[in-house]
Amino acid sequence: MPQYKLATLAIHAGQEPDPQTGAVNVPVYLTSTFQLTGIGTDRGWDYSRAGNPTRDHLETAVAALEQGAYSAHLFTTGMAAISAVFALLRAGDHLVCSRDVYAGTVRLLDQIVSGYGIEIQYVDTSDLKAVEAAIKSNTKMVYVETPSNPLMVLSDIAAIAKLAHAHGAEVCVDNTFMSPVLQSPIALGADIVVHSTTKYLNGHSDGLGGAVIGSKPEHKDRFLLVQKAAGGVMSPFECFLVLRGIKTLPLRIKQHEENGRAIAEFLSTHAKVSKLAYPGLKSHPQYELACRQQRGFGSMLSFELADRDAAGRFLAALKLFTNAESLGGVESLASHSATTTHASVSAETRAAMGITDGRVRLSIGIEDKEDLIADLEQALAVV
Ligand SMILES: Cc1ncc(COP(=O)(O)O)c(C=O)c1O
Repeated sequence: MPQYKLATLAIHAGQEPDPQTGAVNVPVYLTSTFQLTGIGTDRGWDYSRAGNPTRDHLETAVAALEQGAYSAHLFTTGMAAISAVFALLRAGDHLVCSRDVYAGTVRLLDQIVSGYGIEIQYVDTSDLKAVEAAIKSNTKMVYVETPSNPLMVLSDIAAIAKLAHAHGAEVCVDNTFMSPVLQSPIALGADIVVHSTTKYLNGHSDGLGGAVIGSKPEHKDRFLLVQKAAGGVMSPFECFLVLRGIKTLPLRIKQHEENGRAIAEFLSTHAKVSKLAYPGLKSHPQYELACRQQRGFGSMLSFELADRDAAGRFLAALKLFTNAESLGGVESLASHSATTTHASVSAETRAAMGITDGRVRLSIGIEDKEDLIADLEQALAVV
């Protein structure tokens, strides 16, 4: 496909009219198996775990959106995609992981991946000296989530890639919070990108999925093998939902972004709100890095209320924002970090990370921003 811009790619890449019927939407191939043309010959597909035409279309679309991609691979959930990335590691390898990552990633690493003889070291990847100090001769991967959840701490992808590559290690970035519209980790130097498509790529909170995007032919070989051998592939119907979601991704992100900025500005002067984490505010310590590495600031933010009670009263009083986990959908969500995304993290670790019982995270949707601000205002009034 020619070098079209993102909004064009979102609609056309992988989504050309069906050559057989002219259908303008990609058909959903609800089939587990395919008729073979002979012994050992087929029309390109033999069994849907190994490959399905609907999935192929979405993989083409996702690869087109993520600058520098060689191939994209779809899985049942974001966690299945992240598991596929860790399947690149072998016993005796050392993995450096951002300390401030999605708690599900920590659960996967500590309770499953570590059992395979892989050494895991959590590091504050916003501190380049700490990253450099952690990398050793058997370090094979640096895994980064930026911005992080829920504290919106940024890690410098280009600088980390330079450090990792100097030691022969690869860098994987969880790009879920930014989506391909706002951040291109491979173009910045990373080797692999993961997304929970459950979030912005689907965008409508009606499905689960994950994507891994590799930048090299060997990534493609390995992730195709993980799909076929481990089997956690995205279903054709889920692929259809994400194909549909991607068409409006750039448009949705524009509105998410506008609403995010307006709400951050409103919260930044509210007397009951403290420690607002939103990299788009000039007061954010990493504002300059956000401007350099992102094309916007997204619609995720978090802040502190006085204590757990205050957070509870605030969440109960909201009318438009729904008290729910997850993010990246068209509807606005609010959640209590300590008892949702970070419930599996011990209270001591949460305290060390700076996630207090008063911390609330918002995923700002695409409703009218004045209505959203009015909802937050009335809920803060009862705190
Ligand atoms: C940043 C991030 N990565 C990965 C995941 C896991 O995605 P899924 O829930 O689709 O498995 C999540 C889920 O919240 C997330 O927030």
